[in-house]
Amino acid sequence: MLLLAASLLALVVVLAAVRDGIRKRTSRLPPGPPGLPLLGNILQIPSQFLAYKLHDWSKQYGPIYTFWMMGQPFVVLNSIKVAADVLDRKSDVTSDKPPMIKMACETEVDSCQVRPFADVGDGRLYAYGFNIRSTMRFTPMQENEAAHLALGLLRHPDKPFNEHMHRFAASIIFRSTYGGDTIAHMGPDPSKKIEDLTLRLMAASLPQNSVVDTLPFLKPLIENVKWLRKQADDWYNEVCEEGNRLYDAAIPADHWDATTTVHDLNINLEKYGMTKHDAMWMTLALFMAGQETSHTVLRIFALAMLNNPAVMRAAQEQLDAVCGRRPPTFADRERLPYIDAIIKEMLRWRPPVPLSLLRMASEDFEYQGYTIPKGTTLIDNIWCVGQTRDASVYHNPDAFDPSRFLDASGNLLPSPPDTRSDLLGFGHGRRVCPGKDFAVNGMFISFAYLLWAFQFEWPVDESGKQVICGVDEMESHALVATPRPFGVVLKSRHESLEEHLRAAMKE
Ligand code: HEM
Repeated sequence: MLLLAASLLALVVVLAAVRDGIRKRTSRLPPGPPGLPLLGNILQIPSQFLAYKLHDWSKQYGPIYTFWMMGQPFVVLNSIKVAADVLDRKSDVTSDKPPMIKMACETEVDSCQVRPFADVGDGRLYAYGFNIRSTMRFTPMQENEAAHLALGLLRHPDKPFNEHMHRFAASIIFRSTYGGDTIAHMGPDPSKKIEDLTLRLMAASLPQNSVVDTLPFLKPLIENVKWLRKQADDWYNEVCEEGNRLYDAAIPADHWDATTTVHDLNINLEKYGMTKHDAMWMTLALFMAGQETSHTVLRIFALAMLNNPAVMRAAQEQLDAVCGRRPPTFADRERLPYIDAIIKEMLRWRPPVPLSLLRMASEDFEYQGYTIPKGTTLIDNIWCVGQTRDASVYHNPDAFDPSRFLDASGNLLPSPPDTRSDLLGFGHGRRVCPGKDFAVNGMFISFAYLLWAFQFEWPVDESGKQVICGVDEMESHALVATPRPFGVVLKSRHESLEEHLRAAMKE
């Protein structure tokens, strides 16, 4: 009996390998790195920093190539033009998301709508509540949070820098979504549970981390065997419970009369064509997608400032000239183009989501003589040598140099074609990050506040030696690449800083 089962299994594997070989030979997909029969390139795919591997391959295989895992093709887009051609100009067939069997998006049929990962439309819903004009309603809250961040750093220097950044990121998204007061410097943090659930989802969303998503033919088995679904079911139930709890407890406006996202959705459910369940998932998705990324940009910012003191000085000179002894505000933005140049340079230099989010071709399509079949996973390789590191567009791409975005008078230059306003870090097409205006506003005010308030220095050890974090000392947090935690010493740049901050907060 055992022998028969083993022989059958061997036969299935041989047939699958033959089918896979024929498929690869006859496919008109772009060529890429050679792999093994059936397994494809799976053994070459690292469990962390997939972006670095795909970046290396892009140097060898050019602007578009294919790698394979268990018979599934993954097409990688490695140039500014190719990404814009495929994801912007062909967005009618490149805006779907690959299935996520592992984390319930498929097994719970229509119930999982975590938008970054689910295939639920074309992004119009977000346009109502999160476009550039409507996110302006949150700027008084973001300004207050930036002052609160600086105050926290001043009052609690022993709390790790990283945790201060984390609190700020969570607080602005949480308040815009659910309302309520700022998350306190020393806790408790009402967003903790959702953050933990997000990390579990992120880990499962990488192509190399989910066997069932790499082998879709296992779907019926997963659907029907409770034990195999357990991880996904547990996750789904916990998210629903927490999501509904937060949604029901949300308050209509923040302290500045800006309607919270939950309230905006609640009063417009009919107009937006949504159910409460949809709205609950949508608000969760905003929090899930926005928290880790916003936290990461603050860490990258500090890393960039510490490793590039001349940039820090240039920004501070502009801030001092415009604001003097009072903290910056959004009203100063036009006169602070250097801060906007820092934002663009940070997202270019260390894009926090280096491979964006996976997409899937919803129909066969032709591109440059290749045929990309329906169901192919598409990877937007933002990090690579042809996109944010394209030397012909961004000279000396490894250097952190915000002045590349400024003209001789210090004003922002127009952006080169297809670079999405030099903000490639937010992705492409219909699924481009809907939180980008909110995120850029948050970056602007927090960077301006921190640079105005503090001198950034490395800590020193007992022997007086600086404890430095190098620019390449990154950690992979599933989809997000972030600097490892590092120490920062912040020296106040103004006398009576605390009073200035409290005055700005009207405390
Ligand atoms: C600097 C911070 C951020 C970065 C670098 C970032 C980056 C990205 C990227 C690369 C994508 C994938 C886009 C694509 O598929 O082409 C994305 C999607 C998304 N982002 Fe962001 N994001 C940031 C902040 C935020 C914030 C603050 C929010 C919410 C308030 C947010 C909500 C979302 C959502 C909901 C999606 C999924 C959109 C969809 O699939 O239709 N993001 N983001």
